[in-house]
Amino acid sequence: MNLLKYIIFSFCAIATTAVMAQKPIYLDETRSIDERIEDLMGRLTLEEKIALIHAQSKFSSAGVPRLGVPDLWCTDGPHGIRPEVKWDEWDQAGWTNDSVVAFPALTCLAATWNTDLALLYGRSIGEEARYRKKDVLLGPGLNIYRTPLGGRNFEYMGEDPYLAGRMAVGYVRGVQSNGVATCVKHFCLNNQEWNRHGVSVHADDRALYEIYLPAFKAAMMEGGSWSVMASYNKIDGQHAGHNYRTLQQILKQEWGYKGAVISDWGGTHNTDEAVRNGLDLEFGTGTNGLYGGSKNYYDSYHLALPFLDGIRSGKYSQADLDDKVRRVLRLHFHTTLNTNKPFGSLHSPEHYAAAREIGEEGIVLLKNEDNLLPLKLDEKKTILVVGENAVKMMTVGGGSSSLKVQREITPLEGMQQHFPNTVDIKWVRGYVGDTDGSYNGVTTGQDLSETRSFRELVDEAVAEARSADYVIFIGGLNKSYGQDNEGSDRQSYDLPYKQDSLITALAKANANLVVVNISGNAVAMPWADNVKAIVQDWYLGSEAGEPLAAVLAGTVNPSGKLPFSWPKALNDVPAHRLDAYTAHDEEYKESIFVGYRWYDKENIATLFPFGHGLSYTSFVYSKPKVSKRAISASDSLTISVDITNTGKVAGKEVVQLYIADLESSLPRPVKELKAFRKVSLAPGEKTTVCFTIGSDALSFFDPDKHAWVAEPGKFEAILASSSADTRTKVRFELK
Ligand code: GLC
Repeated sequence: MNLLKYIIFSFCAIATTAVMAQKPIYLDETRSIDERIEDLMGRLTLEEKIALIHAQSKFSSAGVPRLGVPDLWCTDGPHGIRPEVKWDEWDQAGWTNDSVVAFPALTCLAATWNTDLALLYGRSIGEEARYRKKDVLLGPGLNIYRTPLGGRNFEYMGEDPYLAGRMAVGYVRGVQSNGVATCVKHFCLNNQEWNRHGVSVHADDRALYEIYLPAFKAAMMEGGSWSVMASYNKIDGQHAGHNYRTLQQILKQEWGYKGAVISDWGGTHNTDEAVRNGLDLEFGTGTNGLYGGSKNYYDSYHLALPFLDGIRSGKYSQADLDDKVRRVLRLHFHTTLNTNKPFGSLHSPEHYAAAREIGEEGIVLLKNEDNLLPLKLDEKKTILVVGENAVKMMTVGGGSSSLKVQREITPLEGMQQHFPNTVDIKWVRGYVGDTDGSYNGVTTGQDLSETRSFRELVDEAVAEARSADYVIFIGGLNKSYGQDNEGSDRQSYDLPYKQDSLITALAKANANLVVVNISGNAVAMPWADNVKAIVQDWYLGSEAGEPLAAVLAGTVNPSGKLPFSWPKALNDVPAHRLDAYTAHDEEYKESIFVGYRWYDKENIATLFPFGHGLSYTSFVYSKPKVSKRAISASDSLTISVDITNTGKVAGKEVVQLYIADLESSLPRPVKELKAFRKVSLAPGEKTTVCFTIGSDALSFFDPDKHAWVAEPGKFEAILASSSADTRTKVRFELK
């Protein structure tokens, strides 16, 4: 009898334990995310579903407290993790533990043309986001560089959708390996800051599908970005934040995107459209300090009580709600409910090393007459450094990507640390730009005040320049309003603060002048012919001065290539030449002919072409070989070329493959970038680079067929060191 009792007791004990131990499906990570979503959907009340799809604070949306689903925390920005702001306001929260590493601006990442660095960048910034307990990183920015006046181009990755897309895939995968979602932005056609909330853009289908969508598609469908941010502007009259064509038809139907569409902050304007046109998670429709009364303003959001009331009244369908909730839950399962995510890290030596490496490979040597660079520092030299940007911290400012850094090495500090002690470095102001060292309550602590006049500053710089062995001018733009700054476009293509006249005066005073331009945009350079060496230095973040000094001293051989064309004059730019840059109904009249596609077509010489960047060594390309002379649509073609370092120092070359469609039924660019590879070669070393392409690299978007088409005919593979420096080419045919 006792045995029976023991067996029964044991059975009950095991059964109870099993039931107690059995997790609900939504918390069982052995189950698929789809299963977990459906299980959780069945447990949610209507109010809980509504709470999931709109903000509860400036940067967070609610989870489901009753079921242990955590709140979802978003953070800016693409270059580093934004300092904490107050629950309801943009103002700084005043924490003392939220300083970060600032990584180089994404124009610099694009200029590396190194997809391995894109992965490293994403992994590193994702570790800082994870450590700061953030679930969604609001970046990377992928809008195409259409005008050099664009205030946020420094956050984006240039004029070519293929380059931007390749770099985005690596960045997204790196960030998301930390259980932090990327939120690629701003989807789409947000190519200027001028009236960014109100401008209505029209782009024809070819421009949309061939230029403005591909980088987003790569980032979301290949990189797997778990979310996307809809942009402020209108598209054909309807706000992008709830645009039926871009969010429902293209993103969710044509592409089959499963992630969540998040609004830009304040980008939601209409409840009906927000419900029906594919917006999933609404942020920033208010508040900044709970204006709109002391009640919980977040209930006023379009996807809050208005949506809830509409469902109860039958005005809106449960299906519209459930699609949004499923997408937001999927975001949670990748992040807040993902117990396998790593712990991240902050301020690590690895992150500083990554920032430095990306800066070193992104700096572009635009001109180097008489091999003025690298500086010959092996014996006693005096170097005069001129310019505000040599000392000005640039990690603060620029808008939502502004940061509070643990440290920032300025260009002057970089040179002082990096150059040998045989060098005597002196700095003079040269010009006065923006003396305000604070943004949104984050202050640099620098005192850039200046009482002397511009004339006095120029006279001082010129006098000092005459006796120096080298003069290094460090200027350009900065992160102030009307420069490289969110919410405003530049008002001129020229350098501000009378820098041109200062540079011209310095060039007359000393032939050994190096101009270092710090910016996220091209600028006019009327003095370019009178200056021997010009370096494009981006906003390099915390390590800024270190990579620059290394390149100037030759410790690092520059290998960056321009991610956008550098026009001689603003009127050479199609958006301006065609009077297609406006603040209201704006038609992208240039269609697909953006950047080098335009300059090739119109035979307009640029100051420096897309893909341009010099090295301290030289590279020779062999005749290319093709695996076949003719391919069918289902075939692939391998194009190989030998690259040899024919100089005296090690260096890196970016081999660019452009494809020219020699006969097409619709107008096509002369050539388009379809592949690239960065190779590192010792002096005398040779390597073979192979590109394998398929018909997708030969296709164009046919608006009548609403499909990509690869037309049979002759093509040419162009292997180049820039879009204007063809090294070799070979023809082939698509049968
Ligand atoms: C801003 C920007 C967006 C940013 C968001 C949150 O207005 O457009 O890039 O992520 O709002 O700050």
